[in-house]
This record gives sequence, C-alpha cells and structure tokens, in this order.
Amino acid sequence: MFKDVIVRSSGRYFPERVFTNKEYEAILDTSDEWIVERTGIKERRLAAPGETVSDMALKASLQCLERAGLEPDDVELIIVGTVTPDTIFPATANWLQGKLGNTRAWSFDLNAGCSGYVYSLNTAYNMLRNGQHRYALVVGAEKMTALSDMTNRDHCVLFGDGAACLLLEAVDPAENPQGWGIKDFYLQSDGSLGNILMQTAGGSSHPSTYRTVRNHQHFVEMQGQPVFKNAVRRMYQAVIQVLEQVNVPPEEIDWFVGHQANARIISATQRRLGVPEEKVYMNVQRYGNTTAATIPCCLDELATEGKLVAGHKVVLFTFGTGFTWGSTYLVWGETK
Ligand code: ACO
Repeated sequence: MFKDVIVRSSGRYFPERVFTNKEYEAILDTSDEWIVERTGIKERRLAAPGETVSDMALKASLQCLERAGLEPDDVELIIVGTVTPDTIFPATANWLQGKLGNTRAWSFDLNAGCSGYVYSLNTAYNMLRNGQHRYALVVGAEKMTALSDMTNRDHCVLFGDGAACLLLEAVDPAENPQGWGIKDFYLQSDGSLGNILMQTAGGSSHPSTYRTVRNHQHFVEMQGQPVFKNAVRRMYQAVIQVLEQVNVPPEEIDWFVGHQANARIISATQRRLGVPEEKVYMNVQRYGNTTAATIPCCLDELATEGKLVAGHKVVLFTFGTGFTWGSTYLVWGETK
C-alpha cells in the first residue's frame, strides 16, 4: 500500500554578509536602478571565506531536524539539489551526512539547476511513497557566487548563496485523515537547449586548464533573453499541467511558490496564470537567485512567519538550466 508523504519541518540558513547593488556599482558598470528594474533584486547573501555548500546545508538541516524533534540518525535518505557542490566527488550530500554525524542514510546530489529542488522532492517522494523509508531530508543549497564572474555584469548581479530544506515523512493514509502531503508532480526537460545556460569547463568535456581559467569558462555562461522567455512559458505550462492532473482550479490555491530567478519572470507568470499577486510569494529582492535553494527558502519563510499553515494548498513551479522545468502540488502539513 502506498504511503502519504507529508512535510514535517523546514529550515534555512543564509550567510550574514549582505551584498547590495550599490556594492556592484562600485566594481562594475551597472546601477542599483538597472538591477532593480530588470530583476527586482536589491541584495543577495555571500558565503563567508571558506564557507562551503555543505556548511550552509548543515545549518539549515540542523534547524529543520531540531524543529521536527528528530536526531540526525533518524534520517534514512539525504538528497542535496545543487549545481555548486563542495567537490565534483564525493557528493555534497555525502559531506553533509558526515557533518551531521548520520550513520544510517544513503545520500546523493541531484543536479538539475534551478529545477534541482522540485526534482529532488520528486525523487524523495517516490522512495517514501513506496515505503522504502520513513524520513528523508531534502536540501537545496548553493554557493552561486563561486560560479559568478564578478567582472561580468550580465550574470553576476543575479546570484546569491544560501541553503534551505524540508524534512519529509511517510505515513499510513489512515494516520493522515486531513489529507496533508505531496500529491503530484509535473516534470520535464529539453536537453537540446543546454548551451543557453551552462558552465563550460571543469567537467570531462573541458577539463580545467590554464586556458579554461584564463577564458573565464568556469563561470556561468548565459543568454538572458531566451532563458527569460522559456522560463515564463514553461513555468506557466507546469502550473496549469499539475493543477489539471490533480483537478484543482487555480483559485483554490493558497500559495504559488516559484523559483526565484527574477521578479519580472515571476510577475509575468502570475499575470499569465491570472492569479492574484498576493498569492505568489517573492523574496528574490533579498536573496537574488540561489538556484536549487530558492523554493525551500520561500516555504520556510512563509511557514515560520505563520503565513503558510496546515491545510494550505500550494503549487511549486520552477525552470532552469538543461532546460529543466516542473511543478508540484501539495497540501502543507502541521510543521514545526
Ligand atoms: N547592469 C547594467 N547594464 C546591463 C547589465 C547590468 N548588470 N547587464 C546587462 N546590461 C546591459 C546589456 O549589456 C545591454 O546593453 P546594450 O543594450 O548596450 O547592448 C542592456 O543592458 C540590455 O541587455 P538585455 O540582455 O537585453 O537585458 P534584459 O532586459 O534581457 O535583462 C537579464 C537581462 C536581467 C539577464 C534578463 O534577460 C533575465 O533575467 N534573463 C533570465 C536569466 C536568469 O534568470 N538566469 C538565471 C538562471 S536561470 C533561472 O533561474 C530561470
């Protein structure tokens, strides 16, 4: 018999160091006005020197576990969505497991860019739903400033660092009369468009050399406009699709929580969906784009501020490198 998969708790950690648009004005040919008008971003967080993705993921995870009243060893599965792993191998999830002192879980990273969190959630959901495990820790964590060329205004102003997570629990449907939990997903990708948003070097196709470093090929390479257009089109489609699958009309949704890349992308999606602005959460102005960390960060903010409560119907939607995109429909549980 299938289990229900409920969100039990959330956590987040964002580094203390705030990097404002004004600071970019001092080092680049840009302006606070341009960045705010084109992206909505006012500031982002910067990891401290030496602070790794697994360090940030650890802080978010410990907060999440403490809120759930669980020990690290209660977790049997750890997934970290990231494109900025501490090391190419082992996985950041392995480093995180070691730092947590967890001895029971199996752990791995999932690389799907800005869709990394929704993809990770789906992977954990299926393992819990099938009864393989009771608890899974699903983390989105990034140090995007490590991939940002601080001399290239085209992309560096967009990104920031941080980590956030959810703890999922599998329960028998009989123990969940409220019908809380994750209900359905819609996931897609189009690998023919990979070169529009990529990090060229550092992998096996272009191993690191003096030349790759000199040519700035270890940083984000992006064509902004096709990303923008595809993001709006695909995120709209993903929301409509998942709501059709679960037969819930958009007007019944309490929160639309989208990947935080750019305020204009989120607003354009909201207008296409025809849903009220106040139901579409946005915090990109404070953190910039933290890739796989944006969605759990929004959920944790909403939950800890008391705006997202048990029984609320939520749609998550995302788009990122690959291209990858997708959505999730869930009913929020009683989180701590
Ligand atoms: N400051 C000042 N001027 C800038 C900056 C900057 N930071 N960046 C670019 N410009 C200039 C360009 O050089 C160009 O100048 P020109 O007209 O003299 O050639 C001008 O501004 C307009 O450039 P566009 O690229 O046409 O500007 P656009 O309105 O498309 O905005 C942006 C660029 C913000 C990158 C937008 O295309 C975008 O947000 N795209 C999506 C990218 C994204 O979100 N990527 C993140 C990863 S994927 C994801 O998370 C979904």
